[in-house]
Amino acid sequence: MNAIEVKPDIYWVGAIDWPVRDFHGYVTPNGTTYNNFLILDDKITLIDSVKEDFAIEMFGRIRSVIDPRRIEVFVINHIEQDHGGSAEKVVKMLPDVQIYTTERGKKGLERHYDITGWNIKTVKTGEEVRIGKKTLMFIETPMLHWPDSMMTYVKEDRLLISQDAFGQHNATSARFDDEFVACASISELEDSVIDYYANILMPFSALIKAKIAEIQKLGLEIDMIAPDHGIIWRKEPKKVVNMYLNMANGKTSQRVLIVYDTMWHSTELLIGPIMDGIMAEGVDVEVIKLRATPMSVAIKEFWKSRAMLVGTPTLNNIMFPTVAEFLTHLRGLRPKNRMVGAFGSFGWGGGAVKEAYEEFKRMGLEIVEPGVEVNYRPKSEDNKRCYEFGREFAKRVIEYHKKFD
Ligand code: FEO
Repeated sequence: MNAIEVKPDIYWVGAIDWPVRDFHGYVTPNGTTYNNFLILDDKITLIDSVKEDFAIEMFGRIRSVIDPRRIEVFVINHIEQDHGGSAEKVVKMLPDVQIYTTERGKKGLERHYDITGWNIKTVKTGEEVRIGKKTLMFIETPMLHWPDSMMTYVKEDRLLISQDAFGQHNATSARFDDEFVACASISELEDSVIDYYANILMPFSALIKAKIAEIQKLGLEIDMIAPDHGIIWRKEPKKVVNMYLNMANGKTSQRVLIVYDTMWHSTELLIGPIMDGIMAEGVDVEVIKLRATPMSVAIKEFWKSRAMLVGTPTLNNIMFPTVAEFLTHLRGLRPKNRMVGAFGSFGWGGGAVKEAYEEFKRMGLEIVEPGVEVNYRPKSEDNKRCYEFGREFAKRVIEYHKKFD
């Protein structure tokens, strides 16, 4: 397995995880990559490692360029195990290697490994290290994606190694954006950026805005962004930065996502007239049944929509379990700038729609209430109520969406 040169004397030496479909609960239909980089200079430098299972692949790629035992510097941008998982193996091979990481990175390494004897120097934003002709500059990015995270900027090459930020889960033989687009499409690439942002970075939108502003203030010239997952942005690095800024600023499509589950199809039957009402106002609709859809796909579709309607039957006076699970998961992602409402069928006591609204309030979302509740099967008057609810909801969505123009 060969290394791939991304800049003069800078090589991708990562691993391609073609079969992974479950990335700590996040569905990855296209697999992923663990990107890391080797820099040939007076002091040969390795930036990040890979998931432990892929250490052999990483060392194989390094060997295609140099003997790994010649590495003198090891930068650990992020300790999460998909990147820091081979750190111990690297240090075992290179006991004197000089490690650079953040203070929190060092603390995190202590919790994962016995780091007695590891030669660690902690660094802060703006600190620079010369490794020969090239200069590495470190930029702390706490909570993007973990408290320990940082990026490494290779000054002379205008290369930003951005760890999780700007990544996507794509196992592909293409290493660069232009190569990927040539064999797939730009919309596929954009969709994978949105998917990654929605499922991993949604809670950190405010930090993303601040961090991009900080990097812009540092005046760094960037002509390539190399994340730790997926393709490297060499043709259009600004594209992904702009996508991040737009998402962090609440931009999305004027669309309503209907997320639902159903027991005996009664809740499902409410969707048709609600959808007709929404579409009568000229607003697009997407429908997802939770039991038929992976959670991370539902989260991505939520993020791509200005508004969401949640359909839930009442089961034992509370929400249907898949709906409750979805809303709890969504709350953890701290969503913002979205409008929501709920509907559902009940047999005797009801309670699910009320619970859904309580969850919306906990999330601080823009609420349209009351929702629609129907006893058992919908009759024609219920269908009319659903249609009017859909129209009213769509009107509110159109007004709300203008705030983000
Ligand atoms: Fe790809 Fe936060 O690890």
